[in-house]
Amino acid sequence: MDYKKQYQNYTEKIENWLKHYTAYDDCPEKVIFEAMNYSLMAGGKRIRPVLSLAVCDLLEGDYDAVLPFACALEMIHNYSLIHDDLPCMDNDDFRRGKPTNHKVFGEAIAVLAGDALLNRAFEILLEEVSRDKEGCYYKSKAASVIAGAAGASGMIGGQVLDISSEGRAISLDHLLNIHRKKTGELIKASILFPAELYDAPDIIKERLVRYAENIGLAFQIKDDLLDYEGNSAVVGKPTGSDEKNKKSTFVTVMGLNEAKEFLKRTVERAVEALEEVKNSDFLVETAYYIENRDR
Ligand code: IPE
Ligand code: IPE
Ligand code: MG
Ligand code: MG
Ligand code: MG
Repeated sequence: MDYKKQYQNYTEKIENWLKHYTAYDDCPEKVIFEAMNYSLMAGGKRIRPVLSLAVCDLLEGDYDAVLPFACALEMIHNYSLIHDDLPCMDNDDFRRGKPTNHKVFGEAIAVLAGDALLNRAFEILLEEVSRDKEGCYYKSKAASVIAGAAGASGMIGGQVLDISSEGRAISLDHLLNIHRKKTGELIKASILFPAELYDAPDIIKERLVRYAENIGLAFQIKDDLLDYEGNSAVVGKPTGSDEKNKKSTFVTVMGLNEAKEFLKRTVERAVEALEEVKNSDFLVETAYYIENRDR
């Protein structure tokens, strides 16, 4: 398998569907659509929907059934980043090599663009669930995995813990809990909703959960490492943002070398979870990609 080529195959499909979902007509309020599209189409890695399509392949599913959910999840991810960059949160000026949403459109429109992406995501999920009577049960389960992961017990809860831990020393257990929620939950949902949609056997679901929990954690450990020692021109967002905001990160809690070792062990655990799972080559390669990415 040519990993890069396959990743690109997946992202081309995702980009096309996202374009379709965010098309708009000229109207007096069109600035909101411009602001939504500015962030959504700014060159994100699309790792979450890519993972969903890889699980779809693993389960021999149909891309057309998975893509609406995957696009909704990517919209939720993008809304969370617009809000995460706001002055009241991380106060960052660059993302994906471009000025952040509020720097271009102002804070009020940036807040609304985040809200609108979140609403569009749920509109797409509900359109999908109500498309036909068949499969409604499994589609509802898939949508509810995404909704739960994005909410107060998932990503938003993690953001609350992250913000409220600024400027104070926290334990490793507390940091693990923050990372699992703020980043791990959406990544886990991207892997689990296709398993719900296709009602995968329990044994496969269990292995996917173990894989997902480990790569979700690995993804944020690497994000912390990139913030500490990455090249901001390559990463596309300002490095040193965590230090500026006095965040606890894997680097501050464990030290640089320990954090790198922990990342490696976490990726190994993800890979081990997929031993004996057929058609999992792409997911295995993705775990190593997360460990070695430079943006
Ligand atoms: C950044 O996510 C925020 C985290 C949850 C760590 P990504 O690194 O997936 O951001 P994009 O979408 O590729 O820019
Ligand atoms: C953000 O984590 C996670 C979200 C839920 C948005 P970070 O604040 O570390 O993400 P970046 O580094 O700004 O992308
Ligand atoms: Mg943040
Ligand atoms: Mg941030
Ligand atoms: Mg970060």
